Amino acid sequence: MSSSHSAPKPPLKHIAFIMDGNGRWAKQRQLARTEGHKEGVKRIFDVAKRAFEHWNIPYITLYAFSTENWSRPKYEIDVIFRLLRGWLKRKKSTLLENKIRFRTIGDLSKLPKTAQEILDETLRETADFNEHTLTVALNYGAREEVLRAIRELSSSEREHLTWEALSKHLYTADIPDPDLIVRTSGEQRLSNFLLLQAAYSEFYFTPTYWPDFGADALDEAVENYLRRTRRFGNIEPCSDNA
Ligand code: FPP
Repeated sequence: MSSSHSAPKPPLKHIAFIMDGNGRWAKQRQLARTEGHKEGVKRIFDVAKRAFEHWNIPYITLYAFSTENWSRPKYEIDVIFRLLRGWLKRKKSTLLENKIRFRTIGDLSKLPKTAQEILDETLRETADFNEHTLTVALNYGAREEVLRAIRELSSSEREHLTWEALSKHLYTADIPDPDLIVRTSGEQRLSNFLLLQAAYSEFYFTPTYWPDFGADALDEAVENYLRRTRRFGNIEPCSDNA
């Protein structure tokens, strides 16, 4: 079929990743789990760069540390935050050069102070960029996010509560809902990630472990998404849920 007859492509404004399989990637190679995290961190910018530059996707979100991940061994948690700190130190200049706004979702107050410092610095220095946004979920859990939003509601918002009012209190208030959620490593679940924002998201599950998920794998995920039809509960395809 010629391209002039093909269905309109669904817009892709926001792609979110559940970066899973670092531990299994390492185990496959008889390495410590933390080696998988180290390798996984290296993939982040390859994927983000391809998404921003080639696909022109304005919002990318990464699930890096969930509220449930605190139950991991202390050593592993320490390594994860050390990797996060190192990544921010190395990549801050790239974020600035490429005018990428850095955002976080989740409760940062529980994070190690050294991680909080570099996070605050990066958030502040990139706050005015608006073309591309890279959001990292840190100590994030959707259930905690909803409880926090409810506690924040004013009495007038509470009285005639609407989704619009509630969503203004979510961490994602200034970020559109994800069009596509990609989870690596073969697991097929949300694990407390963006539960409300995913109401109409498309899902893409791949058996590839995150450290093996590069720019080519991203192309496959995006091409797969672009072949889909989204209806948002309607009977006809629609371009978005606005
Ligand atoms: C999933 O693999 C990975 C994580 C829970 C942590 C990933 C986050 C980092 C390495 C922090 C760095 C983040 C940034 C943004 C630089 P898993 O350990 O659950 O793998 P498994 O399911 O195979 O055990």
